[in-house]
Amino acid sequence: MDLKDKVIVITGAARGLGAAMARRLAGSGARLALVDLDAASVADTVAACEGQSPDVRAYGANVASEEQVVALFNDIVGDFGRLDGVVNNAGITKDALLIKYKDGELLSKMSMDQWQAVIDVNLTGVFLCGREAAEHMAKLGNGGCIINISSISRAGNVGQSNYTATKSGVAAMAVTWAKELARYGIRTGAVAPGFINTEMVAAMPDSAKEKIAGQVPLRRIGEPDEIAHAVQFILENDYVSGRVIEVDGALRL
Ligand code: CAA
Repeated sequence: MDLKDKVIVITGAARGLGAAMARRLAGSGARLALVDLDAASVADTVAACEGQSPDVRAYGANVASEEQVVALFNDIVGDFGRLDGVVNNAGITKDALLIKYKDGELLSKMSMDQWQAVIDVNLTGVFLCGREAAEHMAKLGNGGCIINISSISRAGNVGQSNYTATKSGVAAMAVTWAKELARYGIRTGAVAPGFINTEMVAAMPDSAKEKIAGQVPLRRIGEPDEIAHAVQFILENDYVSGRVIEVDGALRL
């Protein structure tokens, strides 16, 4: 796919990986629909893309709400008149150990709130955006590409029962969709970032961060644009579909 003038949707575009993807794809001349919980929070990303992207617009939607996601994709297709790519990037963490048990006493366990909030945004949100994007792409008849942002954590990571379940789920959905949607000219892919220089990683306890940093064979955490680069590769290469690209400095959890 030549990205020039193509319409690409990025969820979770206010900051972090989503903002880096927007900046990179704007540099390739893509038209961008930037989505986050409220449109105002995307203003900085929109400003960073203006002048490079021929058309960049902000949208507010909760990806976990079916009603809002249906309306979002109707609005985007109505505004731009086409839909070529979607990056399902919006995601949250609510880390907690499954159980904490010491000296015969249960100290804590991952709550239903912690479990459900992460499932709703990271898994249901990707399902809903992928489904609505696929419907519009099939109707429009120009094919397209859907990319799910997974994580190195999909292999299993302490304190992330909820997050790991979603990140292995979205990687598997990318494979499923590649098989189901090829008949409509729709490709899919996933990117599994390692530990990247974002607010999400900055919020980890210092001890956990230091431990991880020391284990990365490339001896540093990654930069957001290095993940955006992998997203651009999947969008541009028409023979890539249904595969997960790992961008993690060779770290294995
Ligand atoms: N491996 C093994 N044991 C670990 C561990 C690890 N990675 N992390 C914590 N533990 C152990 C601790 O050593 C401690 O054991 P002791 O009681 O024997 O000392 C026990 O678990 C409890 O640890 P805490 O005191 O830290 O317990 P807590 O309830 O305050 O916090 C936690 C637990 C939420 C898991 C916290 O340690 C934490 O946030 N860890 C980091 C989790 C993580 O890696 N998150 C990734 C966020 S970034 C991201 O998700 C982006 C991405 O895609 C990669």
